[in-house]
Amino acid sequence: MKDLSRSAADYHVAVVGLGKIGLSLAAQYASHGAKVTGCDINPAVVDAINRGETPVGGEDQLEEVVRKAHAQGRLCATTDTAKGVSRGNVVVVIVPLMVSESHEIDFRIIDSATAAVAEGLQPGTLVIYETTLPVGTTGGRLRAILEEGSGLKAGKDFFLAFSPERVRTGRIFSDLAKYPKVVGGVDPQSTCRAEAFYRAMVSADVMVLSSAEAAELCKLIETTYRDVNIALANEFAVYAQTRGLNVYEAIAAANSQQQSHVHEPGVGVGGHCIPVYPYFLINDGQPDELWLPRWSRELNDTMACHAADMVEEVLGMLECKDVLILGLSYRAGVKESAYSSALRLLDEFYRRGARVFMHDPLFTKEEVEKTGAIWLDPWQADGVDAVVVQAYHEEYRSLPKEFLQKAKALLDGRGDLDPSELGLTDTTYLRVGVPPVEGGERVAAQIHSGALF
Ligand SMILES: NC(=O)c1ccc[n+]([C@@H]2O[C@H](COP(=O)([O-])OP(=O)(O)OC[C@H]3O[C@@H](n4cnc5c(N)ncnc54)[C@H](O)[C@@H]3O)[C@@H](O)[C@H]2O)c1
Repeated sequence: MKDLSRSAADYHVAVVGLGKIGLSLAAQYASHGAKVTGCDINPAVVDAINRGETPVGGEDQLEEVVRKAHAQGRLCATTDTAKGVSRGNVVVVIVPLMVSESHEIDFRIIDSATAAVAEGLQPGTLVIYETTLPVGTTGGRLRAILEEGSGLKAGKDFFLAFSPERVRTGRIFSDLAKYPKVVGGVDPQSTCRAEAFYRAMVSADVMVLSSAEAAELCKLIETTYRDVNIALANEFAVYAQTRGLNVYEAIAAANSQQQSHVHEPGVGVGGHCIPVYPYFLINDGQPDELWLPRWSRELNDTMACHAADMVEEVLGMLECKDVLILGLSYRAGVKESAYSSALRLLDEFYRRGARVFMHDPLFTKEEVEKTGAIWLDPWQADGVDAVVVQAYHEEYRSLPKEFLQKAKALLDGRGDLDPSELGLTDTTYLRVGVPPVEGGERVAAQIHSGALF
């Protein structure tokens, strides 16, 4: 096969989907010397980028990289995806793929983005999907839309590959430099071209797999592993708790053996990755396959119920009790409520008749109240019967202690608090996997330094 290596400046990349991940990718390619056209259906996003501004926050260095790339004429944006694609020799698609409440995969966004790509597709272009996909989607459904819409043949007239995005919001640039870029094409030519592209764009190693399907499966294994592992931690937690044991202590000790990697228990798993991608596998499996991911998913979803049980045990019936959930975000420091455990907790406490309040410093009152909860600011309020810390944002480090001390139950959803520092006397401190603590005793620390959810 001929040498396909090129320098970054040879690439004109169209990035389709300029959200939390897509804009950072566009900025990464531009900062490596490529010319980048970002494509997004949201005109506000496109306008901001064309002014050199960053419409999504929370990403280290992103503002500066976008401003510089725009000033150097390497980054612009358009709502006309077909036009943006027609200018490029590489297209990277990174729009969301979600599941419905009944766990059906909703392909509408990615299908429509793909149809727009097909409209502008030029011979010789390399199309890479980075959106997490069910196995076989790149070479099946999406290839068919591209071929039909463009009249071109994959592997002959254009090239097609899958490369999972393995970064985490908040640390995208460092993750891009760290984790090997996994690639797999629909044919050897496509694989080689995708490999050459990433070698020019990321400093991490490029890991070449034998097919697009293998690369798709890699990402589903990574995320499902975490969901199953958390389910196991939750099982251990409930077991330990009912026997008066502290599971954190036991897991930390178990993990001191290098083959044990048990994750952290908690009040649920949220976000649009870990609770979603297992369904990409499960939906594709026969009834007698993939029972462990299936069951783990169910178990992690029941943790909200376990959390409500814990609070109920302290307060008695929850009917008409005031419960405050801190953190609508699925995890601390990220403004993202997709599949957040806060929503399951809200449903569960409501179901039991409680008055459910919610606060999140990253969301407005109106955004929080759209969930059905009542907004309550712990800095302004008098007190509630129970506080549930769902996402421990940085801002909560300065929560008024008097407010927490007034609660009868304080459920530390992911083990972020040290009850010995809170001056609790009449409050029962609760944590999944730990027996209830009356007053302010010290509880064994977290297992890992960063939350895994
Ligand atoms: N967020 C994460 O932590 C993360 C981590 C790893 C991988 N991923 C992958 O990245 C994907 C995107 O995630 P995100 O967080 O960037 O999503 P996001 O919701 O922040 O952004 C999606 C963007 O796509 C745009 N869009 C929607 N339909 C479009 C269309 N037809 N054409 C062009 N643009 C369109 C939206 O306007 C939005 O700006 C995820 O589905 C996942 O596969 C995300």
